[in-house]
Amino acid sequence: MLDYLLSPIRIKKMELPNRVVMPPMVTNLGNKDGTVSDATIAYIKRRAKGGPGLIITEVTAVHPNGSAIDTELGAFDDRFIPGLKRLTDAVHATGAKIAMQLHHTGRESFFLLQEGKAIAPSAIPSLVFGMTPKEMTIEDIKKIVTAFGRAALRAKEAGFDAVEIHGAHGYLLCQFLSALSNHRKDEYGGSIKNRARFTIEVLHEVRTQVGGNFPILLRISAEEGGVQMTCNYLKKLDSGFRRNDG
Ligand SMILES: Cc1cc2nc3c(=O)[nH]c(=O)nc-3n(C[C@H](O)[C@H](O)[C@H](O)COP(=O)(O)O)c2cc1C
Repeated sequence: MLDYLLSPIRIKKMELPNRVVMPPMVTNLGNKDGTVSDATIAYIKRRAKGGPGLIITEVTAVHPNGSAIDTELGAFDDRFIPGLKRLTDAVHATGAKIAMQLHHTGRESFFLLQEGKAIAPSAIPSLVFGMTPKEMTIEDIKKIVTAFGRAALRAKEAGFDAVEIHGAHGYLLCQFLSALSNHRKDEYGGSIKNRARFTIEVLHEVRTQVGGNFPILLRISAEEGGVQMTCNYLKKLDSGFRRNDG
């Protein structure tokens, strides 16, 4: 069993030294402009020293209106590439491989909702923050599909070995996939085929940009009951605190 776990594996052109994968985890260590900080590098170096075959980096925004927090790493401009290259060099120095998690937060961003800049498939309030995003136009949809592709290409240019498209945890792709957050009447809403259209277009665009031999991962939530339950729990907790506050 351990021999198998510690044996190499090839996924398209990516050769992993073993099958231990560190999943993406937000660190809040990025600079306020979305660039990689010295703290990000120190953190990732320490994780890579542990010997995983693959590290998937934390959420990385494909568009300025797709960041969940102001310290979220960005990949929506070429100015991010030098910092991202430092990150890939640090991981490669240990023999491990690194994938970038491409992310768009959709309606789940407190600061974008507050600024009236949050977008989503439908104008339905955020489960976490209770504020309402703007419904995306077809033009918005095309723009974000293109942004995923451009960000993937920047990841490749910065030396990443793969990209992971974040289609889980209630963020934009998940918001399109779910009938709870997608009430659109056009070709992006209704049937599961229509709700999946945005994710499939993103996948096609990313594949077109990175070429056939570059690994693309897709993270999706198998069920969303957990999200709903957590939000209900948080709401109860919040009203409890309010009661205690008098
Ligand atoms: C602090 C923290 C930050 C996370 N950030 C991300 C993230 O950026 N992207 C993502 O897809 N999942 C994120 N996750 C979820 C983890 O990748 C992982 O799925 C979760 O911790 C469950 O894994 P476990 O069962 O091994 O604990 C995060 C989890 C934690 C605890």
